[in-house]
Amino acid sequence: MRIYQAKDYQEMSRKAANIISAQIIMKPDAVLGLATGSTPLGIYRQLIDWYNKGDLDFSEIRSVNLDEYKGLSADNEQSYAYFMRTNLFSQVNIKPENLYIPNGLEEDIPKECSRYNNIIKSLGGIDLQLLGIGNNGHIGFNEPGEAFETETHCVKLTENTIEANARFFASIDEVPKYAYSTGIKNIMQAKSILLAASGKAKAEALYKALYGPISPSVPASILQLHNNVYIVADEAAFSLIREKGLLPDQEA
Ligand code: F6R
Repeated sequence: MRIYQAKDYQEMSRKAANIISAQIIMKPDAVLGLATGSTPLGIYRQLIDWYNKGDLDFSEIRSVNLDEYKGLSADNEQSYAYFMRTNLFSQVNIKPENLYIPNGLEEDIPKECSRYNNIIKSLGGIDLQLLGIGNNGHIGFNEPGEAFETETHCVKLTENTIEANARFFASIDEVPKYAYSTGIKNIMQAKSILLAASGKAKAEALYKALYGPISPSVPASILQLHNNVYIVADEAAFSLIREKGLLPDQEA
């Protein structure tokens, strides 16, 4: 596990974008596993900036998103498909036929899950999986208690996650209660993983993920067992780890 320390959100975003950019340059047809939420916004902005400067080419890149709310269409402004289009895909030269995201409107859960697992397999697996981390240690929508061997599945969101995501909706009642999510097994099969975190609210989850026992009660703790993980976080997110004297003394 490699740990990259950043002073703030902006620096975290640039360092994380550097890792994604290195992947794109070294393998122009890489399969990127992408995430939504507040954390990757700055990373996507940085990638778009480099694309605009002619430093990055997405024309052969394939992307597989982690998750999608069940019940929302790709046109719904709260859907993750909409988020990805607005915040990244429409601003770079990635091809629409190379973008994959679970279909929130599919009612047949086993059918959608196996379709999505098959897509990941047919692409040859994920080269670099970008992750945020929930305040409760979730990755994707894999909530505490989720079995580590799960592949794409339909998740009942916890109250904690519904509350945390309510900020994107007009009211908490509008937050969907279910989501399709790739599973811990899909995430762990990625060749490399980049976990980004920013802000004090993530400090405890990050500490437990990196230094706590490996347990389904903190889904991100499984990352300790992956042999190619990059952690990029800012001072606030690393604050508890630093307080405990566990932060490596290195600056990257
Ligand atoms: C998003 C996702 C979630 C988020 C996590 C952190 O696709 O799968 O696991 O990464 O909830 O969200 P933010 O970045 O909004 O704090």
